[in-house]
Amino acid sequence: MVRLATYSGKEKDMKRKKSFIRNMTAAAAALLAAVCIVCDSKYNIQLTEYRVESQKLPEELEGFRIVHLSDLHGAELGRDNERLIELTRRQEPDLIALTGDFAENGKELSAVESLLEGIEGLAPVYYVCGNHEWAGGCVEEIRALMERHGVRWLSNQYELLEKNGARLVVAGAEDPNGRADMTRPRELAERIRADYPEDFVLWLGHRNYWVQRYPELPVDLILSGHAHGGIVRLPFIGGLFNTNHGFGAEYENGLYFSGSYCMEVSRGLGNSVPVPRIFNRPELVTLVLERAE
Ligand SMILES: [Fe+2]
Repeated sequence: MVRLATYSGKEKDMKRKKSFIRNMTAAAAALLAAVCIVCDSKYNIQLTEYRVESQKLPEELEGFRIVHLSDLHGAELGRDNERLIELTRRQEPDLIALTGDFAENGKELSAVESLLEGIEGLAPVYYVCGNHEWAGGCVEEIRALMERHGVRWLSNQYELLEKNGARLVVAGAEDPNGRADMTRPRELAERIRADYPEDFVLWLGHRNYWVQRYPELPVDLILSGHAHGGIVRLPFIGGLFNTNHGFGAEYENGLYFSGSYCMEVSRGLGNSVPVPRIFNRPELVTLVLERAE
């Protein structure tokens, strides 16, 4: 026997309404999840800690702590960057390294200034320029701001940092977007080695290309940024976009080894492209130096 189901107009309306509510609920849940993911990747800071060993490290500097911040791009993490400042303070740093792209133009300098006010006095702070300060024409403005807050500006220069009666060399390589006639990285590194052949050399350079372009650079630890972790990060794949805005990120996050040195690439704190950071929280990196036997 065949039973035919028949629906009244009212029942059909009810079905349509239920289906509409179900679809709208699913769309709202998906939108909410997307907003949460984007906000998490924009505002929640991830602390990453690495231990880096070197035979060149003097015993007196065992446990030396470096906080590495990169690619702020005018971002504010907490009101006046207070969450970033507090997390930096809690690391009890011996040195704070800022590796460029903190502002893209003069409008973002207030976020940089609030950060500098908060970290001033915690430890010696060093800065190297990124490509965006040059491209945005705000190099001199940001330099003046840094110097007002006691930050050491390194443009193809190096300095000695002394602590506990021992010392290390802190060098800063200028970004290639800078002046055409400037010192090349190899010249700077060779000059340092001529003066300080046995010292531990910390090298700050915004771009993440050191292992590829300068695999034999005679330094000990390189801190860089630039890649923003590949912008979008996927499980088992890592960063999705490279620094040429194509697919397939390289050297975008973590530690890499070459010749005599270790290169650490920070995922950075902000963003400079319309694509939002996804599964890619702003990163504060702490490096703890240890003496290798
Ligand atoms: Fe950047």
